Amino acid sequence: KSLYAVIGNPIAHSMSPVMHNDLFQHYELDAHYHAFAIETNDLTDAVKGFRAIGISGFNVTVPHKVAIMPLLDEIDPLARSIGAVNTVVNENGRLIGYNTDGSGFVLGLKNKFDDLESKKVLIIGAGGAARAIYFTMAHVGVKHLDITNRTITKAENLAKDCPYSVNTSILQLEEAENRLGAYDIIIQTTSIGMAPQTECEPLSLHNLSKNAFVSDIIYNPLETRLLKMAREKGANTQNGIEMFVNQGALAFEKWTGLMPDTSRMTTKVLKQLG
Ligand code: ATR
Repeated sequence: KSLYAVIGNPIAHSMSPVMHNDLFQHYELDAHYHAFAIETNDLTDAVKGFRAIGISGFNVTVPHKVAIMPLLDEIDPLARSIGAVNTVVNENGRLIGYNTDGSGFVLGLKNKFDDLESKKVLIIGAGGAARAIYFTMAHVGVKHLDITNRTITKAENLAKDCPYSVNTSILQLEEAENRLGAYDIIIQTTSIGMAPQTECEPLSLHNLSKNAFVSDIIYNPLETRLLKMAREKGANTQNGIEMFVNQGALAFEKWTGLMPDTSRMTTKVLKQLG
């Protein structure tokens, strides 16, 4: 049996084991996926252990996405520029790190927009998730990507670090609120709105265009206050389930060579969320 895993801390609520084990069963692969809670101090030993048992691949989640990098043998260039790894593939004993968070998100958008490159996009937030999304969007050729964040210097640094060419304005939250009507796609990447703090939104949607597409990477709750307000204004909305499922699907594809059925994965995840 091949072994796959996810490491993080905490990890008990991860939906990845159920999602991947269902796929292994569905595609009749002799493999198992297990969640391991790993303390930061034990990360080096955990990777040594994985090498010793010849693990086939693993996902990496909070808080290890950055710290894992020096412990691997090779890092994919996009993951290197993002500065975080969420998927590791064991290729004949060499551990190779990838980032499928940003590409999972962008895959979802590409399925919705034929002309994604020419859309005017606003990203709210400048943390790790924003970074993965911004870099990957720039990498696939999206030309106009603005960022708004509570801390402006963080947004400036994020844009400065990006090796792919893209047009970006950095906006104060208030400025972004005023100009909101100009955006085709708005992507919420902060933790604001996540359970248990469900009563806030990062900015007002007063000026939102009803033709806009609003995406929130949060999936607990399934509909954040921001998404509810956007929906009530007539905009199309998307929660974080698609990004989660797609990052898993792209990891599964790297491990097995099979692009799995993402609607099956979505059903499984929604069922687990209750
Ligand atoms: P992640 O890796 O999940 O993206 P992170 O790196 O901690 O998490 O980033 C969190 C993001 O949420 C940041 O954009 C942060 O804004 P700052 O850069 O100003 O800290 C944003 N954020 C979190 N709590 C916030 C709050 N109460 N108000 C405004 N922004 C908040």
